[in-house]
Amino acid sequence: MKAILSLLAMLALPLSALAQDAVQRDRQQMHQLHRDSRAYIGMLDDPKRDAYQKPYEVLTALAIEPGEVIADIGAGSGYFTFRLAHRVGDKGRVYAVDISPDMIRHLNRRIRELKAMNVTAILADADDPLLADASIDRFFFSDSWHHIENQSKYLSLIKKMLKPGGEIIMIDFHKKELPVGPPMQMKIAREDLIRQMESNGFRLTKEHTFLPYQYFLVFAPT
Ligand SMILES: C[S@@+](CC[C@H](N)C(=O)[O-])C[C@H]1O[C@@H](n2cnc3c(N)ncnc32)[C@H](O)[C@@H]1O
Repeated sequence: MKAILSLLAMLALPLSALAQDAVQRDRQQMHQLHRDSRAYIGMLDDPKRDAYQKPYEVLTALAIEPGEVIADIGAGSGYFTFRLAHRVGDKGRVYAVDISPDMIRHLNRRIRELKAMNVTAILADADDPLLADASIDRFFFSDSWHHIENQSKYLSLIKKMLKPGGEIIMIDFHKKELPVGPPMQMKIAREDLIRQMESNGFRLTKEHTFLPYQYFLVFAPT
């Protein structure tokens, strides 16, 4: 009887409300995962991720030089942070920026364990990475741009934080059904991101196409 009543209730809902419900459920599942930081870290650091995330190829494509200063925005568990730190070496620095206190604690534990003295974890504001102006060679966003809410404000801030000649690297999931990644409604299509960057004073300078599920774009200020 209960099942029949809920079916009738669902039929009474307009389609858009059903779609909205699906959106809510996806978002709730995502927020649930974000609240359970151990599970979230486990997912980000899952060695199976390497098969599609190809971290070695990503860093090689970027040709990172020793001595660079890189801001890993939405660093999470540090999946890329510590690989970046290895490339920039003792004279470089990686700022691992996140808004989650759990992630920052996790990052600081790993900095201590790995003796990664060239990594600094920064508990940032949601709309401000709290870095100094003209201090960063490259901003690195991996699966994190779609989390930033006030994106125009963010872009105008990080533009000022870039050193002359600096660039912004964006890796994120294609807006289509994929076996991994965030729910569809959180994804940003590649073309929309390029338009957004252009309208905020950046131009696409490079694109790498070897990632199976994500676009990998490099932008510089115009
Ligand atoms: C999907 S994880 C990506 C982690 C990492 N970049 C990687 O590729 O493994 C997204 C991370 O962005 C962080 N985040 C969400 N909103 C943020 C914001 N406004 N500023 C900085 N970090 C944010 C989350 O706490 C989470 O750790």
